[in-house]
Amino acid sequence: MAGRKGSPSTVLVTGGAGFIGSHACVELLDHGYEVIVVDDYSNSCPRVFSRVERIAGRFVGAVYELDIRDRRALSAVFDRHPVDAVVHFAAHKAVGESTRMPAAYYDTNIGGTTALLHVMDEHGVRRLVFSSSCSVYGDAGEGPLDESTPHRPTNPYAASKAVCETVLADLCRADRRWSVLCLRYFNPAGAHPSGLLGEDPHGTPDNLFPYVSQVAVGRRPRLRVFGSDYPTPDGTAIRDYLHVMDTVEAHRVALDRLADGPGMKVFNLGRGSGSSVLDVVAAFERASGLTLPYEITGRRAGDVAELVADAGAVARAWGWRPVRDLADMCRDAWRFQQLNPHGYQGTPRRPGRHDEGAGPCG
Ligand code: UD1
Repeated sequence: MAGRKGSPSTVLVTGGAGFIGSHACVELLDHGYEVIVVDDYSNSCPRVFSRVERIAGRFVGAVYELDIRDRRALSAVFDRHPVDAVVHFAAHKAVGESTRMPAAYYDTNIGGTTALLHVMDEHGVRRLVFSSSCSVYGDAGEGPLDESTPHRPTNPYAASKAVCETVLADLCRADRRWSVLCLRYFNPAGAHPSGLLGEDPHGTPDNLFPYVSQVAVGRRPRLRVFGSDYPTPDGTAIRDYLHVMDTVEAHRVALDRLADGPGMKVFNLGRGSGSSVLDVVAAFERASGLTLPYEITGRRAGDVAELVADAGAVARAWGWRPVRDLADMCRDAWRFQQLNPHGYQGTPRRPGRHDEGAGPCG
């Protein structure tokens, strides 16, 4: 039995092939959980699982290629496995894209979540860790934000996460059998210290860390810094970057804490420390020993000046605190990018595993 007494032992990870999901699979396997994954590979690759298993020294129980909105396919997964709890990462997450394709974001992020809740309820599984986002706070201004900060999303991605939180809160009020933990991440970054797992988005990266990494490795000529006229010390936007290993450790603790009782709780996951875009460039230059070319361009639609966590609540409740800093994130992201200049391409697939599908990276 994994974790504390009463902790779930078989965990379904939706979006388990993605950046945070794949690291979460390692963390859960390392702590004795049985891990089942569903993913549609819309921004990930099934080849990641051979690496997950190599690091963990254990097999993922099963992997299914499916769209989270497909209730029938999802239901078949619950029929086949004794799922105790779900960690729900599967979602579209590019802020810019969400402003161009709002319906697709609402459909997958909200429709996918309600489909999952429906199937979980049908199968008597009512323990969920939900991947939320600091973006629900929107343009909340300077200073660390605690969990009581009102929702003021500034783009459809953020709005979709805010709606999911409302759905989950209403569900927990209506039915006391549900136990839900919403984790509002600030900006997860970095990679597994082995260099085997990291962030490998399809196409041009939307997020700062994978973009900087690809500039450093020579795949892209220069970084575009989106805006230098923000009311911040160097004029570039400030975010609270959190190592992906710290992020997934918090999820493992959350799984244990689902047993504390019914209802919904919400926690920020951040370091409580802000870094500007130029701070990240400088830290990455130190980690890589390179000079990274960049140009300043206009602001990106939907961006805000500053988002920094007040991360006190989760520390008080669970005694959990991040232990890695920006230098660790840059070092690990750079190691992954150096060892895998083209991401997971060329990684052998797991032999004899057909359920997981081919995915766009074949
Ligand atoms: C956003 C969400 C966050 C979500 C994450 C997932 C907001 C406010 N935040 O983070 O909740 O978890 O997406 O994808 O909606 N930047 C550049 N050049 C680039 C890329 C980024 O200058 O090429 C800048 C951005 O303008 C921003 C910072 O770097 O100021 C971080 O950007 P990014 O990594 O995309 O994350 P967020 O937009 O903060």
